[in-house]
Amino acid sequence: MNHTSGVPTSTVPEPGAVPGPARLDVHLTEADADRDLRADALHGLTATPKELPPKWFYDARGSELFELITALPEYYPTRTERALLEESVDAIAKASGADTIVELGSGSSAKTRLLLDAFARAGTLRRYVPQDVSEAALEGAIAALGTEYPDVELRGVVGDFTRDLDRLPRGGRRMIAFLGGTIGNLVPAARREFLQHVHTVLEPGEQLLLGTGLVIDEQVMVAAYDDAQGVTAEFNRNVLTVLNRELGADFDPAAFAHVALWDAENEWIEMRLRAERAMTVRVAELDLTVEFAAGEELSTEISAKFRPAGVRQMLAEVGFELSEFWSDPDSRFGLSLATAL
Ligand code: SAH
Ligand code: TRP
Repeated sequence: MNHTSGVPTSTVPEPGAVPGPARLDVHLTEADADRDLRADALHGLTATPKELPPKWFYDARGSELFELITALPEYYPTRTERALLEESVDAIAKASGADTIVELGSGSSAKTRLLLDAFARAGTLRRYVPQDVSEAALEGAIAALGTEYPDVELRGVVGDFTRDLDRLPRGGRRMIAFLGGTIGNLVPAARREFLQHVHTVLEPGEQLLLGTGLVIDEQVMVAAYDDAQGVTAEFNRNVLTVLNRELGADFDPAAFAHVALWDAENEWIEMRLRAERAMTVRVAELDLTVEFAAGEELSTEISAKFRPAGVRQMLAEVGFELSEFWSDPDSRFGLSLATAL
């Protein structure tokens, strides 16, 4: 991926207690990302049905579009989770006692400020480690947080949470935050593997703070992924723009319609891009020609929704004990504080 860097990328010294300048640690280099994108695009565009993994949504423009999504009237998850955090952060800080907050898929770290403030009030906070695949989002977050939290050691990690957890800093007493319902973007097998991996990197007694969208009224859920202004549609089509830029493809994004539907059996929202006419797409850098039939759909993302009992069970299966569970009055979103056994 091509990124222009606003913050110097540097190798970070091993964990120390000294708060220092904001740092970015790159576990996923441009060469890694390029190799992964080629493999994913080749596999996904030649599969039946066609598919692309969601992490490729998040180039600089994609991360910007996601921020716009979080403010949409239809997109209730962000503001619901924010309200839950407001109500529970002090209890979380007290129950946790962590000195290090590691956040996976941290994006702009907007809601995380509530956690940082509460852990600072509790007097335990020393270090914040946001990890995201989007270098652009991390750079923005780190630059702002460095000024807002001068006493906190910041260590941004560019990495893939399905793979790079082993390289997260150790030491101290850590709580891993995974917010936004992003766990729902993983298919069940990947979700379980991910949670198992998170459990493995934690020491007994360390915690996971997990945000999950809950199963609610179908129309409310679908509208959150198909807003009236079409921001989500633009976000979805952005993955084609990424392929055009990074792999020399010639997708016409305007010829693809955004599709969001509820899969009642799997209890997930599925996002697709539907070819509005028959098309032949050339992906120059893969030396690949891809045929789309009129109406053919390309799967781009799922967003699974959960039931409270299911959350408890999926955590228990990999060795987490649910310490506390918060939900809003309409049971739209759940926030779980789990302890590694
Ligand atoms: N936590 C934020 C952002 C959620 S959007 C919130 O709650 O608002 C999902 C975030 O996960 C994006 O910032 C995206 O860049 C990141 N992401 C997606 N796939 C990822 C992966 N495989 N590894 C690391 N980060 C990923
Ligand atoms: N983690 C977010 C979610 O599942 C990501 C997201 C929101 C998303 N809106 C989207 C992904 C639209 C693809 C398309 O809610």
